[in-house]
Amino acid sequence: MAEREESGRGTWGSKIAFILAAAGSAIGLGSLWRFPIMVGRMGGAVYVFAYILAVFFIGFTEMLAELAIGRHTQKNPVGAFEAIRPRSGWKYLGYAGVVTTIAILSYYAVVAGWAFGYLYKTIFGLFRNITWESSAALFNRFVANPWESLFCFLVVMGITTYIISRGVQSGIERFAKILMPLLFILMIFLAFRALTLPGASRGVAFYLKPELSKIDVKVLFFALGQAFYSLSLGMGIMITYGSYISREENLVSSAGWVCFSTTLVAFLAGIIIYPTLFATPDLTPEKFEPSLGLMFQTIPLVIAKLPGGFLFGVLFFILLQVAALTSTVSLLEVPVAFLIDEHKWARPKAALFLGGLSFLLGIPSALSVGASTALTRFGFFNKMDLIFGNILLAVGGLGVLIFLVYFWGIKPALEEIRAGCPRFSLEPLWVFNVRFLAPLAILILLIFIKTITG
Ligand code: TRP
Repeated sequence: MAEREESGRGTWGSKIAFILAAAGSAIGLGSLWRFPIMVGRMGGAVYVFAYILAVFFIGFTEMLAELAIGRHTQKNPVGAFEAIRPRSGWKYLGYAGVVTTIAILSYYAVVAGWAFGYLYKTIFGLFRNITWESSAALFNRFVANPWESLFCFLVVMGITTYIISRGVQSGIERFAKILMPLLFILMIFLAFRALTLPGASRGVAFYLKPELSKIDVKVLFFALGQAFYSLSLGMGIMITYGSYISREENLVSSAGWVCFSTTLVAFLAGIIIYPTLFATPDLTPEKFEPSLGLMFQTIPLVIAKLPGGFLFGVLFFILLQVAALTSTVSLLEVPVAFLIDEHKWARPKAALFLGGLSFLLGIPSALSVGASTALTRFGFFNKMDLIFGNILLAVGGLGVLIFLVYFWGIKPALEEIRAGCPRFSLEPLWVFNVRFLAPLAILILLIFIKTITG
């Protein structure tokens, strides 16, 4: 542990610290903001179920694969592939992960900036007497104001860069430990309020009663993409995190906890948003068009229905901000760890350089949402999300699985997993998934990509 500190990398203090930090990476805007949007876009409950299946069969498999590679090599993604297969070209998969991470961070932090904006808007009491229309107008006005949204984006990127420049231990762990559980409790509370709103049942039906006729490749593809996105998979984040775990710890149960808690938070986000949304008079599932602002427009409505709503609102947006920050921090950590390990950069310099780069790259995303919050595939923001947040995550995830099975080997991987986990009861299922089910499912969905995006 201590000797690794010298290289500027650091190690997790304990297993629980790792789980909380990995869950901190995973749980964030992906679950709270993106998942409910995808549910709306994909027509409701079938997508919810497709997502849960994708997490269980593919996400968990992938996470264990990444953690095993990371812990085995004790390296960032580029170094990890290079360590197992020197001079083989596999390291380019690591590079792709590094690039994808920066690309995702660039627009993700824009949304994290909205969370910041909503925090001070709540404090200034802008949500009093809110209705669905005024809430939607408030969001649209906010993102259409380039100075305000860029300012918020800059604040979030600045905080992220600062945390990363100070190092893993002190930066990430302290945040995640206390506040993630609090977020969870608050969400249960909000879910309870949402479900008891008059008219909530229409939203519950939309969210939980699947119409099987709505299943198609598109639903499955975006369920897969969301599983990767929400679990921070497919680009080496979990390889990097795995590299900080000691061999005494149980990778299987850690991965299981991260998958479970992330899915639960996403599920709760939908349970809060859909009943609240369709409790709005005149808004029916048929008429409803999800926009990028869905969560931001809906949460104030349920908060307004609580006694002491102001305080709950402030608390919610503080916790949302922390959830977003633990994710932006994890996104920035991957390329920073890469520059430290492979190019011997000093941590603060790497953080500043990459934080600045992501900010510049995020500006067109921020501005494109100002022009339109619709989920069209033409806006820059939506393009970034489609290309990096869905397609490249799936490609990267497939690459990791192929690497593990054919270039590293199931055997050494299992050995790595069994260290710290003497009884791995899901072993046969994992082996089957990692060999066949997960790669084939990803491959087939990627082949269909033309029909999905066209
Ligand atoms: N999983 C995070 C969220 O849902 C976002 C995120 C962090 C991410 N790291 C990632 C997404 C790596 C994809 C890959 O909010």
